[in-house]
Amino acid sequence: MVREWDPKTASADELRSMLDSLNAVLMADLPDDPLWQESYLREYLAETMPGERRISWLAEEPGDNGGPPRVVGHANVLLLGDIGVVELLIHPKARRAGLAREMLAQAARKTYHEGFSVIGAEVVGGTPAVSFFESVGFVREYTETRSVLRLNSVDWLSLGEMARGIGAGYRLEFCPGGPPDDLLDAYAKAKAELREIDDGDLDLRPSSYDPQRLRASLDCLHRRGMKPYIVLAIHEKTGDVAGLTEVVVPAQHPTRADQYDTIVVQDHRGYGIDRAIKARMLFELRSAEPKLAEVQTWNAQANESMLKVNAELGFQADREWYEYGADLADILRRLEHGV
Ligand SMILES: CC(C)(COP(=O)(O)OP(=O)(O)OC[C@H]1O[C@@H](n2cnc3c(N)ncnc32)[C@H](O)[C@@H]1OP(=O)(O)O)[C@@H](O)C(=O)NCCC(=O)NCCS
Repeated sequence: MVREWDPKTASADELRSMLDSLNAVLMADLPDDPLWQESYLREYLAETMPGERRISWLAEEPGDNGGPPRVVGHANVLLLGDIGVVELLIHPKARRAGLAREMLAQAARKTYHEGFSVIGAEVVGGTPAVSFFESVGFVREYTETRSVLRLNSVDWLSLGEMARGIGAGYRLEFCPGGPPDDLLDAYAKAKAELREIDDGDLDLRPSSYDPQRLRASLDCLHRRGMKPYIVLAIHEKTGDVAGLTEVVVPAQHPTRADQYDTIVVQDHRGYGIDRAIKARMLFELRSAEPKLAEVQTWNAQANESMLKVNAELGFQADREWYEYGADLADILRRLEHGV
């Protein structure tokens, strides 16, 4: 029932059925999240950064009256640096029958044979995935809070004040599509600052800190149908990027954007840059993406200053979001031999 699957060459029926399963999962587990659309779904599942690979599996059941089979399970593992990051989706109708264990066993075995020794997963708090991953021996390593901002609840007047409230000597620049080539080096330098901070997370999401990799990562976003928007704070005297904030509008759920990194470089803290770049971003998104209704973001609970700014902008805490990790050999022993 479970087979390896390549979204690049998948049939339209398979993709549509996979999408139906994904949306059934969202309705069951995250009913306030927007449903996904088919737009760029194939590319979203198939495209990766250079040097990274994603391997996928499907589980199907026979269709009614000779119709095409229906997808009841999907798994994929992203081979990223020195970790395999697994995602599992089981249709609510097909749960508690051991399918996730079976799919995880296949993904774990393949990842192990690819030479990896660690496996990780992002898990949404308050969903069955917490019990599932704990039951197979994964350990919670890191916790973030997801917050959501509803654009129709924004106080645009005070947001305007925040966008203007930046210290003298800085200017803001809006870059739809990503930073222009002449700012790429300065942008990468500012992003490198984030790499220095070891906040204990498992690095399950790809990040890029050198100009070449950054360009490749922006290209990859575009290929996957995820449109990046960036607001930069430029220090006028030096031309340095003093701060940046990144939002991505995915073609798969264009009513809800994802807020990615926001960075204010150490030497430029205390000038209202964080507030100003995020506030300016919301104004820009309002006109560039008229269908957009919400923005979601993830923050570590220890990051008090960022949580404070997000609360001022109108973000409201939604759910806990965990990173789980495990030793691959241990997981395989448990799944395949029950020890
Ligand atoms: C988490 C998920 C993959 C589990 O799929 P599943 O096929 O129902 O899982 P299994 O039947 O293989 O369950 C194996 C064990 O996990 C635990 N488990 C799974 N769901 C559970 C639940 N709702 N409550 C308590 N324990 C649960 C149990 O120990 C179970 O063994 P048991 O049924 O013999 O008691 C599925 O609920 C899902 O698709 N969730 C949404 C997507 C998601 O969050 N994926 C994970 C992040 S990538």
